[in-house]
Amino acid sequence: MHLRTDALRQLRRWLPLLGLFAAACSPDHYAQTALRPISDFARIGDDIQTQTFYWALGVFVLVEGALLYAIFRFRGKPDDPEPRQVHGNTTIEIVWTVIPALILAAIAVPTVRGIFETGATPTGDALKVEVVGHQWWWEFRYPDLGITTANEVHVPVGQTVSLRMGTADVVHSFWPPRFAGKRDVFPNRETRLWFKAEQAGEYPGQCAEFCGIQHGRMAFRVRAQTAEEFQSWVGHMQTLTAKPAAAAVAPPADSVRTATVGAAVPAQGKQDAVPRATGKDSSAVGAAPDPAYAAGEKLFQAKGCVGCHSLNAVNAPKGMIGPNLANIGARSYIGAGSFKNTDETLARWIQNPQAMKKGVLMPNLGVTPEEAKSLVAFLRAHQ
Ligand code: CUA
Repeated sequence: MHLRTDALRQLRRWLPLLGLFAAACSPDHYAQTALRPISDFARIGDDIQTQTFYWALGVFVLVEGALLYAIFRFRGKPDDPEPRQVHGNTTIEIVWTVIPALILAAIAVPTVRGIFETGATPTGDALKVEVVGHQWWWEFRYPDLGITTANEVHVPVGQTVSLRMGTADVVHSFWPPRFAGKRDVFPNRETRLWFKAEQAGEYPGQCAEFCGIQHGRMAFRVRAQTAEEFQSWVGHMQTLTAKPAAAAVAPPADSVRTATVGAAVPAQGKQDAVPRATGKDSSAVGAAPDPAYAAGEKLFQAKGCVGCHSLNAVNAPKGMIGPNLANIGARSYIGAGSFKNTDETLARWIQNPQAMKKGVLMPNLGVTPEEAKSLVAFLRAHQ
């Protein structure tokens, strides 16, 4: 009785700490988890893992149980005689060889089936997406939709996406843990992956193969959207082109589009106040853009940003060194899933990318804080 109250008191003392520990382990803190699948592909792997876990649990309980039973049941006493010496027991040896072989066979059936299922090429109306790994960011091209984006791949819920993947430089590994397992990407060799998202939301993904100093900051976001939201996103992206319908009235073409988008930005250019530009409102062409935006647009050329980054989602050139920025203003993260996309982080990045992601191919361009503000206003308008 005394012992029990003592133990209870101890438990009560440690309970808050245990609670803290449990809270730290909660899945909300580890969004990048394969243990909460939300796609058919991820479920295949998770099911195999769950089955294997229960087999292992059964083996553990039986083996440890038999061990404990033997320890207590056959415990020797100091004056016991020498036990009978035996060597080998054919029956037992056959039993403990056959049982594990059967268990492994039982695990092998769903495993081999899973390998074929996940390796198959999807049929039907799969959405094609080309994935290109770069040091250290991800390029996503939708060949049938004619659009390109970077670091945030939008997918429709309920439709299979069929990924054809490669790399522009070294070996990377594409891993969207809630949706699919890791798949390496190679130069000059195509690998494939597919999944059908079951739940809308934004989820993290990560390069899972060491690929250089910033391998750890080669992340990406999967933005799973309802079919309607996805369609409207595609429709919007398809307006982000170098040659919009209005191009004929006022060349150069690119400035027409950006002026349209820029005109949608309130004078303060505050991120939260920016409505998601539809890009369809050509009546805004010719409206006076925000002065910071206009200055940013000039700087984007003058500082040479344009040499590495395309602002066109449509007909985006291949082989660009830096990520496509057509909808940079609307992305959740910058630096390939590394930093929240706020005006403050974006300005810091533009001024000193090397301080935030050392070794990144973007050099420090000597941008002043004032210039950075203008560039942020310009980029933020690219929703
Ligand atoms: Cu790319 Cu690690």
